[in-house]
Amino acid sequence: MAFLNLFLPFLLASLVCAIAPPAFRPKSGMHKINVDSVEVSHRTSGAKLLPLNTTYYFDQLIDHDNPSLGTFKQRYYFGYHYYEPGGPILLMNVGEQNADGFWTYLTNETITGKLAAEYNGAVVVLEHRFFGESNPYPDLSVKSFRVHTIQQAIDDHEYFVKNVRLPMPGGDQVSGPDKAPWVLFGGSYPGALTSYTMQNKPGLFYAGYASSAVVQAIADYWRYYEPIRQNMAKNCSADVQAVISYMDQVLTSNDSSKIQAFKATFGLEDLTHNDDVASAVSQIIGSWQELTLTAGAGSTWFQFCDALEVKDVKVAGPNGWGLENALAAWGSYYKTTYLSPTCGGATDSKDIAACLDTHDTSNPAWTNTTVNNAGRSWEWLVCTQFGFWQGGAPEDQPTIVSRLVNTAYYQRQCVNYFPEAFSSPPVVFLDALNVNKLYGGWNTTTERLFFLNGIRDPWREATVAADDTTSPGSDLQPHLLGDGYHCSDMLISEGISSPAVLKVQNTVVEYLGTMQPQYTGDPVTTNDGLVS
Ligand SMILES: *[C@@H]1O[C@H](CO)[C@@H](O)[C@H](O)[C@H]1NC(C)=O
Ligand SMILES: *[C@@H]1O[C@H](CO)[C@@H](O)[C@H](O)[C@H]1NC(C)=O
Ligand SMILES: *[C@@H]1O[C@H](CO)[C@@H](O)[C@H](O)[C@H]1NC(C)=O
Ligand SMILES: *[C@@H]1O[C@H](CO)[C@@H](O)[C@H](O)[C@H]1NC(C)=O
Ligand SMILES: *[C@@H]1O[C@H](CO)[C@@H](O)[C@H](O)[C@H]1NC(C)=O
Ligand SMILES: *[C@@H]1O[C@H](CO)[C@@H](O)[C@H](O)[C@H]1NC(C)=O
Repeated sequence: MAFLNLFLPFLLASLVCAIAPPAFRPKSGMHKINVDSVEVSHRTSGAKLLPLNTTYYFDQLIDHDNPSLGTFKQRYYFGYHYYEPGGPILLMNVGEQNADGFWTYLTNETITGKLAAEYNGAVVVLEHRFFGESNPYPDLSVKSFRVHTIQQAIDDHEYFVKNVRLPMPGGDQVSGPDKAPWVLFGGSYPGALTSYTMQNKPGLFYAGYASSAVVQAIADYWRYYEPIRQNMAKNCSADVQAVISYMDQVLTSNDSSKIQAFKATFGLEDLTHNDDVASAVSQIIGSWQELTLTAGAGSTWFQFCDALEVKDVKVAGPNGWGLENALAAWGSYYKTTYLSPTCGGATDSKDIAACLDTHDTSNPAWTNTTVNNAGRSWEWLVCTQFGFWQGGAPEDQPTIVSRLVNTAYYQRQCVNYFPEAFSSPPVVFLDALNVNKLYGGWNTTTERLFFLNGIRDPWREATVAADDTTSPGSDLQPHLLGDGYHCSDMLISEGISSPAVLKVQNTVVEYLGTMQPQYTGDPVTTNDGLVS
């Protein structure tokens, strides 16, 4: 980035939006973690195995409804350092992001690795179609997205389980649910995919682990911000609400000088449309989702609240410092620390405006169909199947996000991205209710499916732990709630930070043991040439 700034300043304006798409919707997704070494040996034989970051490719069907269209390369990582014949095969789908680096989920720093260690399992970490390197077609056009559906992703699981020859001794003996117990894992959207797959393909997976699983598609998903509002510091919440309320009043006032002054406070003087201003200012609230229990004070969220609440080394009481201080402090933190990195390093206010403008439909952020663009591929799923429009709360509820950010704001962006598929908002293109009907939503009756959730997870209201869920859970479909954030229970470090998270993790470890079917086989003694 430093190099770009120094030598190519004239290119920056066109680059910024390619780097930071203007469609600011708080992310979903599992956490990436650091593990020091890719080196690994088999636990009992001691044989040195290929490094954990070795990439494998599976020949996956492009279209499960029309196998004659051929196959594409679906990327995966694989680890069998804990495996003994008869052990389970743990399959985790990475979902709505590039799978680069997710080999760490093969290690015992994560729940997949820990369960493999406990039950002599092997772990597969699979990249989702249309993310990262795993592309059925060479672009992300609407035409290609014909096969970008939840059902195709579910069918990918089936075809993989039944046809893969895993790169380990005896790896051709475990394909299919009749050969080995396969267990499906996922956090966030892949958590939902875990539930959906088990509902849609009974018997394929012996058990499932669904973390922060957003099983219930919800169109107007303002409740995304409710767990944040309920769990954030009181002073920060009070001040954020004061600024948001003031902002909405100013932006709907038609008072152009007042609006201009407000925009300048945040370095947004050249941003034309009020809804973009509202979204740009509000989006910092989405940084809550990056939190983990182990995250220190360095995170954007805590920096932001500290900026608002700490004044002359004094900390505000539960009511905050009030609007005047909060407005200045938010603006200052936003301008000096937050805005430029969000816009790919841009510093000129015109470049920043270009980066945040969602009304300019010629922006490459909408039109660029080059592969490996997780934002675009995820947008397709939300525009066609999920909704999850993360907007301000209804008028009769407190809100920590602008009410100018609403369903219409997001739906307009679906049209920007995919004009060939959608004409103009408001349009009825949302298939959310159908998703819930097809795959069960909250009402899934699948057994041996674990739902793990965190009280502080902003996605909680779309999971079975939502306040108004219709799903009671059962002995064979345990609903476990810890005090973590998004997908916290997938990380062993989070259990070390929180007894409640540790408890839900250990419950699954023990419970899965009682469910484990018995498969027998010979212990691994040879390496079949797979070691280096
Ligand atoms: C399109 O996206 C690709 C991949 O992210 C990028 O390399 C390319 O520069 C982008 N093109 C434009 C015109 O923004
Ligand atoms: C795996 O990790 C090692 C060590 O960090 C690195 O040298 C190597 O390039 C990586 N391989 C792949 C395929 O990423
Ligand atoms: C993971 O495995 C290593 C090596 O076997 C061991 O030293 C370490 O304690 C384990 N970590 C966890 C979190 O279980
Ligand atoms: C006030 O804000 C500070 C700084 O973010 C935080 O440490 C503290 O817990 C907050 N106190 C209350 C009562 O909300
Ligand atoms: C601002 O202008 C719009 C459109 O002319 C009008 O509907 C709205 O009531 C005005 N708002 C205020 C606060 O005057
Ligand atoms: C789920 O169950 C509830 C209560 O029984 C029912 O009202 C709702 O329509 C069901 N949802 C779906 C998607 O079937």
